Amino acid sequence: MIAAAQEVLAEARPFLEELETRLADEVRGHPGLVAAVGENAISAGGKRLRPVLVHLTSPDRERALRGGVAVELAHVATLVHDDLIDGAKLRRGRMSAWHEHGEDAARAGGDYLFARAFSGLARAGDLEGVEILARACLDLARGEALQRLQSHDPSTTVEAYLERISLKTARLFEAACLLGSRDARVGAFGLALGIAFQIADDILDCVGDTIETGKIPGADLREGVPTLPLLLAAREDEIVRRALAGGPLEGALVRVAATGALDESRALALDYARRSRPMPSDEPELEALTHIVIDRES
Ligand code: IPE
Ligand code: IPE
Ligand code: MG
Ligand code: MG
Ligand code: MG
Repeated sequence: MIAAAQEVLAEARPFLEELETRLADEVRGHPGLVAAVGENAISAGGKRLRPVLVHLTSPDRERALRGGVAVELAHVATLVHDDLIDGAKLRRGRMSAWHEHGEDAARAGGDYLFARAFSGLARAGDLEGVEILARACLDLARGEALQRLQSHDPSTTVEAYLERISLKTARLFEAACLLGSRDARVGAFGLALGIAFQIADDILDCVGDTIETGKIPGADLREGVPTLPLLLAAREDEIVRRALAGGPLEGALVRVAATGALDESRALALDYARRSRPMPSDEPELEALTHIVIDRES
């Protein structure tokens, strides 16, 4: 990792420590299985990238903490639901919620986390914050619905893919930047960064290492999700095309790596990361974050 990125994370450490305390406080206090599912998902950790974005874009520490807690809770809620939808058994190096506690508990646990995400903002009377996060969550659900429509379709266009990931991932990055800054230009930075982030995630699903990512790779191909690397590879390779369409998976991921699809995807991710600059005030911390997003292994 480049030195500037390491510096950003070191600078954010005191903020992240306080954030952990507040996250734990927010999910505690409702005895029962549903809250336990929520607590477990929060305590499993994760990169806390969205709260870092709130922190870096906020002029006010209290607003940063409140927004950081809200966006991370909403994010973890989506992960709990996402693993159920994707049939993913591992998350953050632990058994995913549905795999450990069953589908109903995961659904309810995710709902609980969503509710908790909004309650902190509401308690503080931050109606604008509620609106920002609500819009992102609605878009996220639309993105997941769009993904369902696109599933097992290897001829999904790059444009349709970009629309989907903008909705399902980048809107929450935009929301993180808006919760911090309340400035649309900073929000636009978050949106572009979020697109780059999801492309990097989709590459990691082809070539990532479970020890690093805490997830089992290959989920997208198995579920027929036409991610950028998969849809680009499908244009070149008939075995990948058939696998993505729902045919046999055997050997298909190796073929993806043999095409130029991973490099091409990485180039587009870099392009979006670059497009997310220059920042409104050309902030070096935010620029360093773009490297964290692209050059990550987890
Ligand atoms: C995973 O997000 C879901 C995507 C949008 C790709 P992260 O990679 O930020 O997950 P954690 O929070 O670090 O576990
Ligand atoms: C992002 O897509 C999920 C959400 C926006 C919730 P993925 O399904 O690829 O995320 P991972 O890879 O499981 O974390
Ligand atoms: Mg998933
Ligand atoms: Mg998914
Ligand atoms: Mg993924």
